Amino acid sequence: STTLFCELISIWSFMSFISYLLFNDISACYCFFFLLCCLSFFLSLYCSLCLSEDYGRSFKDVTDLINNTFISTDFGIAIGPENSGKVILTGDISGSTGSRIFLSSDFGNSFMPSDLPFNPRMQIIYNPQNPNVLVANDLWLSENFGGHWTKIHDTVCVVKWGTDHTLFFSTNLNGSCSERGVLVLKKTTDYGRTAVMIAEKLYSFGLGGRFLFASIMTGTGMMRMIHVSADQGEEWNMAQLPPVGHEQFYSILAASDEMVYMHVDEPGDTGFGTIYVSDDRGLVYSKSLERHLYTSTGGDNDFTNITSLRGVFMTSVLADDGSVQTVVTFNQGGEWVPLKKPENSECDSTAIDKDKVRCSLHIHASYSISMKLNVPMLPLTEPSAVGLIIAHGSVGDAISVLTPDVYVSDDGGYTWLRALTGPHHYAILDSGGLLVAVEQNLNAPIAQVKFSTDEGQCWHTYNFTTEPLYFTGLASEPGARSMNVSIWGYRDNIFTQNWVSITIDFKELLTRDCGDDDYVQWLAHSDDISDPNDGCMLGYKERFRRLRKDSVCMNGHEYAITKQHTPCPCTLDDFLCDFGYYRNENSSVCLEQAELKDHDLEFCIHGKKEHLQTNGYRKIPGDKCEGGRQPERRETDMSEKCISNLIDRQLQEDGTPSHSAPIIATLIAILLISCVAGGLFVKKYICGGSWHLTFWCFCRFLVHRYSVLQHNAEANGIEGVDEPLDTDVARSAKNTFHEDSDEDLLD
Ligand SMILES: *[C@@H]1O[C@H](CO)[C@@H](O)[C@H](O)[C@H]1NC(C)=O
Ligand SMILES: *[C@@H]1O[C@H](CO)[C@@H](O)[C@H](O)[C@H]1NC(C)=O
Ligand SMILES: *[C@@H]1O[C@H](CO)[C@@H](O)[C@H](O)[C@H]1NC(C)=O
Ligand SMILES: *[C@@H]1O[C@H](CO)[C@@H](O)[C@H](O)[C@H]1NC(C)=O
Ligand SMILES: *[C@@H]1O[C@H](CO)[C@@H](O)[C@H](O)[C@H]1NC(C)=O
Ligand SMILES: *[C@@H]1O[C@H](CO)[C@@H](O)[C@H](O)[C@H]1NC(C)=O
Repeated sequence: STTLFCELISIWSFMSFISYLLFNDISACYCFFFLLCCLSFFLSLYCSLCLSEDYGRSFKDVTDLINNTFISTDFGIAIGPENSGKVILTGDISGSTGSRIFLSSDFGNSFMPSDLPFNPRMQIIYNPQNPNVLVANDLWLSENFGGHWTKIHDTVCVVKWGTDHTLFFSTNLNGSCSERGVLVLKKTTDYGRTAVMIAEKLYSFGLGGRFLFASIMTGTGMMRMIHVSADQGEEWNMAQLPPVGHEQFYSILAASDEMVYMHVDEPGDTGFGTIYVSDDRGLVYSKSLERHLYTSTGGDNDFTNITSLRGVFMTSVLADDGSVQTVVTFNQGGEWVPLKKPENSECDSTAIDKDKVRCSLHIHASYSISMKLNVPMLPLTEPSAVGLIIAHGSVGDAISVLTPDVYVSDDGGYTWLRALTGPHHYAILDSGGLLVAVEQNLNAPIAQVKFSTDEGQCWHTYNFTTEPLYFTGLASEPGARSMNVSIWGYRDNIFTQNWVSITIDFKELLTRDCGDDDYVQWLAHSDDISDPNDGCMLGYKERFRRLRKDSVCMNGHEYAITKQHTPCPCTLDDFLCDFGYYRNENSSVCLEQAELKDHDLEFCIHGKKEHLQTNGYRKIPGDKCEGGRQPERRETDMSEKCISNLIDRQLQEDGTPSHSAPIIATLIAILLISCVAGGLFVKKYICGGSWHLTFWCFCRFLVHRYSVLQHNAEANGIEGVDEPLDTDVARSAKNTFHEDSDEDLLD
């Protein structure tokens, strides 16, 4: 309710200023200060803490539970993991030393005040395994939910919880966090009573899946490399990724327990880099996608895990001509292709090339939002709504700056349909049985919601109110199982703006529970039923039970996905080439790299001089193929020398001057070779014959959309802002610790 008052204030102060100029009357200034007082009075009345326990149908004012204290805007509310019911509010008591927090263990129905012995400079972090254990900056830890705080370390730069109550933090032994590359990584498993150093010469670190990553300065001190540990920092290995210089960065795009997608920035301020896909040890990486768009100013990229279908990811590439184009992979990064043009839409007017081949669908994600295009939401998928994707997009040869439409796919991104015209807010309800959308209209109040019971093919409208409201957002329970959706907005009266939340329970509409007849079998990743290998993806087929499109019924809150799993016979394409091996173009066979035969490999397993046994092949992470063609090569020993033992001081101190040059030279040679091998591998991987499609994504188009976008950005004052590079996860902490724009985004 503050905006109206702010507007009034600005009008009044402007008028006062004019009257002061015209009549030289100082009383106008008093008038201005009087209004300022009114404003702060009204602000104190209107800033309240409200709680709803019925999906936003009703709210109660609970400000008195925290004695009407103001809540800090930066990291005011910290909600505990899962269903712990824990809530921490950080009070905004400026001027005093220390600070007050309010702790609740019953979903915000009562609060206990607690005075902190320090000033919070970051969001309080819960131990995900035990929400009673909290950490805050520098490093303070509480084991009894904020009752008592202990300082466990000085000058801590970044802190992250690992699994099994392990806490990782980077620190500078004597100095500040801004001296990158000289930090040390420590871990504690007993809440700070003891802490051991697990890496030094650290630039940054991050956690992804079951892996711990550290970017470590190399011997000469100019470049850094990724080291990886699968056992929480006990043993490190050097990841087979290119080293980066001080102006580049690494970023973990996505990670599961089996694998990671790593972005490696290109040298120079190009705005793109290369995606690498790891093996199941996080060690050997295959090049997956070149020219991957990743802005170096804002840290924006479009990488999206399509959680509604296994193995599907979407992102954007920056073409040679500067245009931004969407590509998708259906096989976990093996091959990337453009999205198919929807049947019911035409190439937009800005497309230069109108023929069908280059006209494809492009999806707006974080990058478009950062460029201030009219895109109200990111692409939306839910694991419980099998195959469903809903996203904003445009059809043409690159992402368009024209107003986007909403597109829906029901088969995990293979085919698309234009569902709604113009930008919308949308939500998935009832495990995909129901889609809800509200038109984005910034200038007029709305009273209508659109919904679809057939995965976006037909849309109906429903007038949810007689008094239209200015819409601000949709909210529904996470997990998409609910039938309730809340519409948030405000109504404008002459004197006030009232926040309104209206909840619609679609149970009133879909009254019938779904029966067996309402479901059909659906084979994922299938396009040719006559092929016995149709639908095979990473070694198995999945057959899902899905709602028929014409069924108007309710899956219900307890709905569980039913799927059948059939293994496929193996081919060599179910394997990637292990360390020291490569593939020729158009061949699936992994050959030993001749160049390496007489060299020591700068590689070690478990931080020790061990023998790496390999037959040159390694199953692609997550691949479950059975029988069929298995690699039949005898295992060979790859001799190796270990240089990645991070706390082996002797090696680092004695070894560097005499050995580093040949080591680095060999290293670079190995990396170059493996990059080439990786590139070839990508072309060949899984889809043998259709490698020209991969080529398609990199070829040149003579349009200049990206420059148009950039002009827009400049007009909006985005370009040139020296924003710290951060992922969403790290963004919350950037106020405190991430000041460096060459930050590795190891989150
Ligand atoms: C509010 O103030 C009262 C009296 O000063 C005090 O007893 C109570 O603990 C306070 N409650 C909170 C949540 O700060
Ligand atoms: C800390 O400072 C001392 C003296 O200034 C120096 O000798 C030592 O090498 C420094 N340690 C580190 C880890 O930078
Ligand atoms: C992608 O999302 C799926 C479903 O939520 C998840 O199981 C998988 O681990 C994710 N993959 C990666 C690499 O993050
Ligand atoms: C819903 O609202 C629209 C205008 O906003 C109006 O034209 C329409 O008649 C209304 N429908 C019903 C059933 O009231
Ligand atoms: C919708 O909200 C009502 C009232 O809060 C609740 O009883 C019901 O369980 C919710 N329905 C679903 C499917 O979540
Ligand atoms: C790979 O196959 C494609 C077509 O199948 C062919 O055009 C190309 O020349 C082949 N490349 C090599 C190196 O054999």
